[in-house]
Amino acid sequence: MATISIIGTGYVGLVYGAAFADLGNHVYGVDINQEKVKLLQSGVCPIFEPGLEEMLQRNLEAGRLEFTSSYAESVPNSEFAFICVDTPSAFSGEADMRMVRSAAEMLGKALSGHTIIINKSTMPIGSGDLVSSIVEQHRNPDATFAVVSNPEFLREGNAVRDVFQPSRIVLGSTNEDACAAVSELYRTLDAPTVVTDTRTAEMIKYASNAILATRISFVNEIAQICEGVSADITVVSRGMGLDPRIGPLFLDAGIGFGGSCFPKDVRALAHMAAEAGTHPQLLHAVLEINQDQRRRFVHKLQDILEDLNGKRIAVWGLSFKQDTDDIRESPAIDVIRMLLQRGATVIAYDPAAMENARTEIPDLETAENQYDAVDGADALILITPWNQFRQANLGRVRELLKTPVLLDGRNMYEPEDVRKQGFIYAGIGR
Ligand SMILES: NC(=O)c1ccc[n+]([C@@H]2O[C@H](COP(=O)([O-])OP(=O)(O)OC[C@H]3O[C@@H](n4cnc5c(N)ncnc54)[C@H](O)[C@@H]3O)[C@@H](O)[C@H]2O)c1
Repeated sequence: MATISIIGTGYVGLVYGAAFADLGNHVYGVDINQEKVKLLQSGVCPIFEPGLEEMLQRNLEAGRLEFTSSYAESVPNSEFAFICVDTPSAFSGEADMRMVRSAAEMLGKALSGHTIIINKSTMPIGSGDLVSSIVEQHRNPDATFAVVSNPEFLREGNAVRDVFQPSRIVLGSTNEDACAAVSELYRTLDAPTVVTDTRTAEMIKYASNAILATRISFVNEIAQICEGVSADITVVSRGMGLDPRIGPLFLDAGIGFGGSCFPKDVRALAHMAAEAGTHPQLLHAVLEINQDQRRRFVHKLQDILEDLNGKRIAVWGLSFKQDTDDIRESPAIDVIRMLLQRGATVIAYDPAAMENARTEIPDLETAENQYDAVDGADALILITPWNQFRQANLGRVRELLKTPVLLDGRNMYEPEDVRKQGFIYAGIGR
């Protein structure tokens, strides 16, 4: 059993905090957001993540998990401190490291005894050294520490499962003993472990997100070509994916990637590449194609409806993907803004993300359920592939729509089936 401080209780830190407690450790979840800490102390989960609230409550009740805003209350008692704060995009594409710097400073001031600091946030190459130097500058002379990079690969919507069944554990440090101690925390999870130097560990994270984003933009470019030559991308993807050298994952054409990781991490990697004197042409293309997908989607709707001005558009899905309430860089938000700019009215429905979406678009009109959203609309656009949309009663949708236009941003429906039901249907690349 170890005592662990988790610095930053967001989508990553909260799941880790609850999971380490569930494995029998004593965990402090530390967050500067006092409102969030209050909610968590009372057992309320501030985010939508399947299975998380139960795990949170179970461990709070067992006394293995506590939440605080105070580093002084938590860090001096901890052998491990995981930095899980946000690292969003700054203006020019690089990672905004202000939260990491401030966490490192507060950690340094609170350290006592020996502590292993783990960089779990996605941080630019060289951040191991940065965190070390900030902590060194602020630490009490009696306190000692080591820094280990341990990037995270969990997927929102699947985070609880991913934490207990990770694809791999990556550890990077100059301190072998510290790596071994962190590896021991994960011992029961039985995942392959890559132990390397700090910078290589940091690069593994960026390269992993970049290749996944690249596959999505690649397949979306092929989808654009499919539209030009009358081929069907869904069958092309299946035919490609059966080749074991290619594999089937991340070959679904659609409206493109969003979320708090792929866009910002590809931008940050491109920024690092440029700073290192290389010319990251592929990364720029990946980002451009992704933005283009959103614009093309709106143009497609405009082509079908002729004019968007004054049209009422129903939107299914606001989160950047299913099973999460996270709307960071969600394609839905961009698409809705473009529709509003063109004079359309939008009425949206999402099972989990409507409140978050209203923080981005305050006067966004939302519906109680997916059918209310389409009532009287000129078109339905599907953006997030939530399961409940998969088996929707399209006959009912057809009756409720003013004009039977269905634009499917995820190729969720079979064109023949929906056309037979009387829809004017368009997907992506088919
Ligand atoms: N969300 C994901 O799916 C995912 C997956 C892999 C890696 N990551 C990376 O993990 C990191 C965290 O992502 P997230 O989605 O959990 O972020 P998040 O925005 O959901 O959570 C970050 C939390 O840190 C808190 N915080 C900020 N500064 C702090 C400080 N100085 N001290 C204490 N708390 C502080 C914030 O209040 C917030 O609650 C990012 O670097 C991200 O790129 C995220």
